[in-house]
Amino acid sequence: MLDKLKGKSTPRPPVWFMRQAGRILPNYQKLKTKYSFHELMSDPELASEVTLMPVHDLGVDAAILFSDILVVPVALGMEMSFTGRGPVFEKPLLSFEQPSRELKPDPGKLSYIYDNIDAIIRDRPADTPLIGFCGAPLTTFCYMFQGTGANPNFPDVVKYLYQNKDDARKLIAAIADMSVVYAQNQIKHGVDVFQLFDTHAGLIPVDLYMELFWPAIQKISGAVRDTGTPFIFFPKGLGTGIKYVTPDVADFVSIDWQMPRAHARELVPRGVGLQGNIDPRLLYASTGDIAKELERYVSFYRENPDLVINLGHGFLPDVPYEHARFVVEQVKRMNWE
Ligand code: CP3
Repeated sequence: MLDKLKGKSTPRPPVWFMRQAGRILPNYQKLKTKYSFHELMSDPELASEVTLMPVHDLGVDAAILFSDILVVPVALGMEMSFTGRGPVFEKPLLSFEQPSRELKPDPGKLSYIYDNIDAIIRDRPADTPLIGFCGAPLTTFCYMFQGTGANPNFPDVVKYLYQNKDDARKLIAAIADMSVVYAQNQIKHGVDVFQLFDTHAGLIPVDLYMELFWPAIQKISGAVRDTGTPFIFFPKGLGTGIKYVTPDVADFVSIDWQMPRAHARELVPRGVGLQGNIDPRLLYASTGDIAKELERYVSFYRENPDLVINLGHGFLPDVPYEHARFVVEQVKRMNWE
């Protein structure tokens, strides 16, 4: 995985999955009968166990830190809990006249996560890179402002971006500043790769995204890459906007399941590798059909070896665990050369 991200040649593409830590793993479901998500995240031994679980149970080539993107809003002073129906903020920013005044940044609130990273680095099998991450400012902002992900169109967020651009800029800068400190500390504690998740990048026009959010993306990416750590950007739904992901912004860009790989390759400047982009719902198909779809990656890979196999968004909770394992086994079995 690290060789691939650094542009060296490898005998096959590496494979890992977004949202691999948890969700579909039977061993995670077992832990969840005893501990809440919050408890799993607050105990270094448990957080390490869950982080490394997909390495042991699925055979993936990298581990991703077991945490959540919404720890950054908490470090900015917001109260949030994970309920059975997803994350909920006590007082979403939409309830305030001037939201940017409501934040009370305290980077110390993230220190328990660095303890988790220390435990993972201690426990991990040899040659298992650890991926650190945070949410990109737009996706993080969506939850902070709307309070839940119940309406994925985040209507109040978009309205606010148009009506209060100046206050929005202050909030975006506050999220970016906290994300920079958080990313730098993750790297200091040993993460080998950093991925920035922008699940809701498709919420607004590309031009508005570039105007309001791009400076923050550059700031976070710059902080990561100044340390020599490879940087992967996942702007889901950004469409043709992926053409702005130049080699000075990212090492790899993670492509969503809507975008054909060949189109992505035409749009993304050379020098930036591609990650993705298996439709998470393909995993409902038979293993025969999954194998056929994976076979389509081989000719693409021979032309474009700067490729990491992943999903085009995270696992859905009810996909068969055996099919996820099958994808990894198949990628390792196939002839890529
Ligand atoms: O990739 C991994 O496995 C590492 C850990 C990780 C989690 N969340 C753990 C988690 C990562 C990278 C995330 C990112 C995240 N969190 C995103 C961006 C990527 C994406 O999937 O779109 C977003 C938008 C969130 C916010 C969030 N957290 C939601 C909407 C939910 C509830 C619904 C859901 O996805 O399960 C969470 C909770 C959450 N984050 C869980 C896990 C394992 C489920 C908690 C549980 O098991 O009860």
